[in-house]
Amino acid sequence: MSGSHLLQGVQLYGEGAPVDVRLDGGRIVEIAAGLPVGDSRAHDLAGCVLLPGLVDLHTHLREPGREDAETVETGTLAAALGGFTAVHAMANTDPVADTAGVVEQVWRLGQESGHCDVAPVGAVTVGLGGEQMAELGTMADSAARVRVFSDDGKCVSDASLMRRALEYVKAFDGVIAQHAQEPRLTDGAQMNEGVVSSRLGLTGWPAVAEEAIIARDCLLAGHVGSRLHVCHVSTAGSVELIRWAKDRGVDVTAEVTPHHLVLTDDLAETYDPVYKVNPPLRTAADVEALRAGLADGTVDIVATDHAPHALEDKEAEWGAASPGMTGLETALAVVVDAMGDRLDWRGIADRLSEKPARIGRLEGHGRPLAVGEPANLTVVDPGRTWVVDAKQMATRSSNTPFAGRELPVRVVATFLRGTPTVLDGAPA
Ligand code: DOR
Ligand code: ZN
Repeated sequence: MSGSHLLQGVQLYGEGAPVDVRLDGGRIVEIAAGLPVGDSRAHDLAGCVLLPGLVDLHTHLREPGREDAETVETGTLAAALGGFTAVHAMANTDPVADTAGVVEQVWRLGQESGHCDVAPVGAVTVGLGGEQMAELGTMADSAARVRVFSDDGKCVSDASLMRRALEYVKAFDGVIAQHAQEPRLTDGAQMNEGVVSSRLGLTGWPAVAEEAIIARDCLLAGHVGSRLHVCHVSTAGSVELIRWAKDRGVDVTAEVTPHHLVLTDDLAETYDPVYKVNPPLRTAADVEALRAGLADGTVDIVATDHAPHALEDKEAEWGAASPGMTGLETALAVVVDAMGDRLDWRGIADRLSEKPARIGRLEGHGRPLAVGEPANLTVVDPGRTWVVDAKQMATRSSNTPFAGRELPVRVVATFLRGTPTVLDGAPA
């Protein structure tokens, strides 16, 4: 279904009078009111908002190794339905994405899927073992052109190794995305350390275990003059530290997940493992600090940390269940729900498309809505509410914490280089 498409009656970034937007040859070729349909396929999108296609810096696609939980095919379809035109696929697969061979395999699977672009993330250390640096340069030079490196799921806790990795990626403008979790402070941790963990008698994961690593890494990044990205910040103290580091000129960026913007640790009282996630859900005060940090730009972006898990890994007792939540199909609506009064559509485009593309050095995504730009686009109906149904999702897993929740906006169409991947809220 390539060819030319005419998006009729959309509001760019939700601003100004509605216009028509023509896509052809993979690009935006015309923007004006009342364009003739001509040879284009017309789509009546009156009342809808046009945004640059969303970009996720943090997705777990599980392939290779756990195709029972997700595949590149199902995960990228979920991404397209959520309005994403590109996702970064985390390296904690089996085998780990720590060589040119594995990152090229994931990249190729993404190309074949056709639902959205896949930018593989390379592991920082061999096998996520935390001991020996992986061949970052080879992954950067591979067909996958890796620019983001992360041991996500695990922290690069060795300070000397972290320093060397930060130094190394400077050569190709890469970035280290750190999962900030001091391992010794989180031994056996099950949930946020606080009043709820004491009441439930579950081992706590203290805020300081995240904050200590963020403080250390900001100092290291400043010392060697390299780029650091902090994954899924979850505490008020983390926001404060990142604000401090940015004020000092450290080249640090940070992400927050949709779930950390709305859910709190008292949900552990249900003992429902759908609420078990790493880093854990925190307190209402943390949620407020994260929202404020995202609004004022201290926290640069939203990233989903979409973490699908097979039933047998999630429907266990709390202590044995795997941490993680799916998020691609609900991300935009959850963020609008949480931030609607503090971020307009320009702000949403900035935090979910433009900045993540820039951090990942992803070309052709997160670009302005302008003639000549690549037609990687998302169309949102700002008035269409919907109720999340875990069974009606494209992801192969059903561990969404938002099942049954009514959300305020819906992605109705997604275009990848001018070709629809989603139309009328369904796969095109
Ligand atoms: O909850 C999480 N799940 N946090 C992580 O860091 C890893 C992820 C996973 O891979 O399941
Ligand atoms: Zn992580």
